[in-house]
Amino acid sequence: LVPKIVVLGSCSVDFTTYAPRLPKPGETIIGSKFTTSYGGKGANQCVAATKLGGNTSMICRLGDDRWGTQYKQYLKDIGVDVTYVHITPKITTGIAQISVAESGENQIVIVPGSNGYLSKLDVKESADLIKSADVLIGQLETPFETTLEAFKLNKGIKLLNAAPAREDIEEILPYCSILCVNESEASILTKLDVDISNAVTALEKLLETGCDTVIITLGEKGAVYSSKHEPTPLHVLCDPVTPVDTTGAGDAFVGALATFLVTQKNYSLHQIIGAACEVATISVTKEGTQTSYPTKLNPFNKEFKYLYL
Ligand code: RIB
Ligand code: NA
Repeated sequence: LVPKIVVLGSCSVDFTTYAPRLPKPGETIIGSKFTTSYGGKGANQCVAATKLGGNTSMICRLGDDRWGTQYKQYLKDIGVDVTYVHITPKITTGIAQISVAESGENQIVIVPGSNGYLSKLDVKESADLIKSADVLIGQLETPFETTLEAFKLNKGIKLLNAAPAREDIEEILPYCSILCVNESEASILTKLDVDISNAVTALEKLLETGCDTVIITLGEKGAVYSSKHEPTPLHVLCDPVTPVDTTGAGDAFVGALATFLVTQKNYSLHQIIGAACEVATISVTKEGTQTSYPTKLNPFNKEFKYLYL
């Protein structure tokens, strides 16, 4: 049986402007390019997994505008199971307004729209699928109580990407097999200013919340992780690249991690995290989110470097 990856979460349309730098508050600057593309953290993670050969299902809510209809068709066309991708009457599809600077940095404003309507009823309807998932992925762009409900049902690997950052999520953490956050999300959860220098303390604090494994991604510096079973924290390094667009790199990491956890079971966690870092690294060298994710890549033909912290 092919392992099943189920993503419960957001599906949004990204309106992205590219400009030399990010504008200051109140400032107008001239950009060089505008794109409309498929995004939203949940769907990005689902598509990253699908492109790597994962057997994926998406549980989400789109609006009843042309974006919603087009998005559902697109997910279906690339091979995502869309049984529980629902169109919500009289609601607009979630959108993200993104600005990308030449440095690769970005700024994002999201309007959840239909993403805000993903409810416990959706979990009830898709309960069999959620229960049978080998990996269940959630984020924080859709209602928290819905994700919590789903995590309570699943007996497989529950992967929470606690993004965008918020602090009041302690209730779900004991249900998480893996908590994956970046430095700023880790900072909000631990009330520390997290970077590589205090990563050990941050990992310890986060493990105390009840999750089995904690991964903190560090952008071009790779990722650090620690788990209940292997408490010695490790720092997995990644190759430096010149970033073009870092939007959705975290989602590429999460989707790749979920895929490799079920398709490359014989590898150690540092190898799996290293391979997920490689997928994220490839994504930052190209514009866009889903459009920049690699297809059918197998990065397991090398040893990823790691350090003890
Ligand atoms: O993580 C990147 C995503 O965040 C974008 O695709 C955008 O939709 C925002 O939600
Ligand atoms: Na990219």
